[in-house]
Amino acid sequence: MNDSLEIRTLTAVEDCRRVQVVQDLVWGGGHGDTMSIHVLVTQSKSGGLLQGAFVDRGAEETDGLVGFSFGWPAFGYDSSGQRQLKFCSHIMGVLPAWHGRGIGFRLKLSQRDELLRQGWTEWVTWTFDPLQRINARLNISRLGAVSATYLRNVYGEMTDSLNAGMPTDRFQVDWYLNNSRVRNALDGNPPPQEMSPDSLQRARTHSPRGNAPRAPRFPLPPPDGRPYALPLPDNVDALRREPGNLLFDWRMFIRQAAEDCLAAGYALTNCIQIEDEWHYIFTLEE
Ligand SMILES: CC(C)(COP(=O)(O)OP(=O)(O)OC[C@H]1O[C@@H](n2cnc3c(N)ncnc32)[C@H](O)[C@@H]1OP(=O)(O)O)[C@@H](O)C(=O)NCCC(=O)NCCS
Repeated sequence: MNDSLEIRTLTAVEDCRRVQVVQDLVWGGGHGDTMSIHVLVTQSKSGGLLQGAFVDRGAEETDGLVGFSFGWPAFGYDSSGQRQLKFCSHIMGVLPAWHGRGIGFRLKLSQRDELLRQGWTEWVTWTFDPLQRINARLNISRLGAVSATYLRNVYGEMTDSLNAGMPTDRFQVDWYLNNSRVRNALDGNPPPQEMSPDSLQRARTHSPRGNAPRAPRFPLPPPDGRPYALPLPDNVDALRREPGNLLFDWRMFIRQAAEDCLAAGYALTNCIQIEDEWHYIFTLEE
C-alpha cells in the first residue's frame, strides 16, 4: 500500500489525456483500442465515473497518475427478467510497476463509495478475462463479486498486447455493493480460502513435464451438484510465449467447463489454491 495514494474523480481534458497514456502503458500502445478523449470527457461529465489513482513520485509521463477506473450508468436484467439500472464498470488499469500494491483494490473501493454516495444503484457489473488469475482473485475473492455469465469473444479480435490472437471470452461479474457477501469480503472475511479436496468435483490438468506449463486435461467431467473446482493457468504471460496451441486449449477448457456449470445453475463464487494449483470454484447455492 502506498501512503501517498490519492484517488480523484476526473473530468478535465488533461486528466483524460493522462488516462490514455496509462492505458497505452498497461495494454501496449499503438493498437487502436485506446478510449478516445472526447468519449472520456463526455461520459465523465454525463453521469459516468472516471477515477484516477495518484501517488507522490508516480509515473513522470502522467504527472503521478498510476491507475484509473472508468464506467457509466447502464441497464441490465435481473434474474426475473426485469430491467434494472446498473453501473457498467468498463475498465480499470494500473501501471505494471505499481501492480500488487493495493491500488486496484483501492480504486474499486472508491468507486463503491462514490456509487453508494450517489445512491441510484447498488448493482455493478464488469468483465474479466478468465485466464487472468490476478483479476479473478481481486474480483471474486477480494471484492466479493460473483459471476453467472460467460461471454464468448465479446469484444471480437483485439490487437493489444494482453489480448491479441485469442477470442476475447470474459466472465461478467455482478457486484452487489451492499449484500452480505460483499460486505464480508470488504470487512476482511472473504469466501473460504481453503476447501477440502474431498468435498469437490475436480477438473484436472496434466502434470507438468520439467519446466513446461501445465496443460488442461479433456474430457471435462459434467457437473454433478458438488462444488466444481476448475484449474486455471499459473501464468498467462508465460503461456503466451509457448509454441503451439496451449493458450487456446486453456481458453477452450475454461469456456466449456464454465458454460457447463452456469447452464446447470452454478455460479462462480471463489478462486482458491488447491495443492499449489489455482482453481475457480463454481457452486450451486447462490
Ligand atoms: C487488474 C489490476 C487492475 C489489479 O491492480 P493492482 O493494483 O495490481 O491490484 P491490487 O494490488 O489492488 O491487488 C488486489 C488483489 O488482487 C490479487 N492479486 C494482486 N496481485 C496478485 C498476484 N501477483 N497473484 C495473485 N493475486 C494477486 C490479490 O487478491 C490482491 O489482494 P491482496 O493483495 O489483498 O490479496 C492490474 O493487475 C492491471 O492493471 N492489470 C492489467 C489490466 C487489466 O487486466 N485490467 C482489468 C480488466 S479491465
